[in-house]
Amino acid sequence: MNIISKVIGCGAYLLENVVTNEDLAKQVDTSDEWIVSRTGIRQRHIVQDGEMTSDLAYQAAKRAVKDAGIEQQDIDLIVVGTTTPDDTFPAAAVKVQSRLGLTGGAAFDVQAACSGFIYALSVADSMIRAGQIKTAIVIGADTLSKLLNWQDRTTCVLFGDGAGAVVLQAQSPNGDPAPKGILSTHLHSDGNLRNILYCESDLVAGVGSRVIRMDGREVFKHAVTNLASVVIEALEANGLRDTDIDWLVPHQANKRIIDSTAKKLKMSDDKVVLTIANHANTSAASIPLALDAAIKDGRIQPGNLLLMEAMGGGLTWGAALVRW
Ligand code: UT7
Repeated sequence: MNIISKVIGCGAYLLENVVTNEDLAKQVDTSDEWIVSRTGIRQRHIVQDGEMTSDLAYQAAKRAVKDAGIEQQDIDLIVVGTTTPDDTFPAAAVKVQSRLGLTGGAAFDVQAACSGFIYALSVADSMIRAGQIKTAIVIGADTLSKLLNWQDRTTCVLFGDGAGAVVLQAQSPNGDPAPKGILSTHLHSDGNLRNILYCESDLVAGVGSRVIRMDGREVFKHAVTNLASVVIEALEANGLRDTDIDWLVPHQANKRIIDSTAKKLKMSDDKVVLTIANHANTSAASIPLALDAAIKDGRIQPGNLLLMEAMGGGLTWGAALVRW
């Protein structure tokens, strides 16, 4: 291993506007009891008029850069995992680049729905390992609340908005047998399953008519199977066992899905970073938001082995193993 991508900073951004389960029960036929028992969600942060995905992404990126203690000019790549860019084009990433005052390097979005952060991380890691770039910001940012039918109780209770970011930097392991950084990433997709979770574009649905459509039970089934197999794949690729993992940092779609993956890994609840109660499913933002929470409160410590995993529309799914 000649070069490894070390995570040198982390940042997150959540909006002030909080919508509770009780708030939603006033507008659709649902209850706090149903939402908590079926999903683990208690509240979500939601954008208000004028707040866009790139605003959230920029705030998270700024915090991650500050945390990393680098000069902004050192950044030569910005990748945003998002399904809700402000514009069809250009990418949310170039808006972040502009707001950071950068003119050099490259910036682009990666669209892999809720797996967007893992996909974006994998792309940036590959470019660092290839020697193409040295310092990257990887952002997961989404405002799925803009794609919800707020009268559809089967979807509107599930999602929230937010952004999280990490800064990656090329490092030479210098013979260290346990170097800190991204050990491996594993990506998968199956386009045949498009119809169980999708959102048509304005071009197809008509301007302002696009909404998320989901066969929840089917998605749940595939999530349990695919996440179990990809975490095993990640462990095997590194010659590691489930007992080697210090923290599971999962995509936060449903607490029951997370519990199932943790059980597969024989991990107790206190080794799983859970933010779903407060954030709901923030799509590509959910893993970096969870990561940031567990770093800032001191749970994740230098040298810890982290397993991240996600699944989303596509279907797409993936995992990343990181030594912190
Ligand atoms: O980020 C990746 C993408 N998303 C996911 O990973 C989500 C995966 N799926 C899930 O998390 C779960 O399937 C849901 C949370 C979406 C649904 O939970 P479920 O236990 O699979 O419920 P269900 O769809 O089987 O519905 C059970 C009942 C239905 O009523 P009937 O047909 O039994 O009378 C639904 O109409 O619950 C009803 N229901 C609700 N009731 C109160 C559905 N949504 C609600 C609601 N409040 N919000």
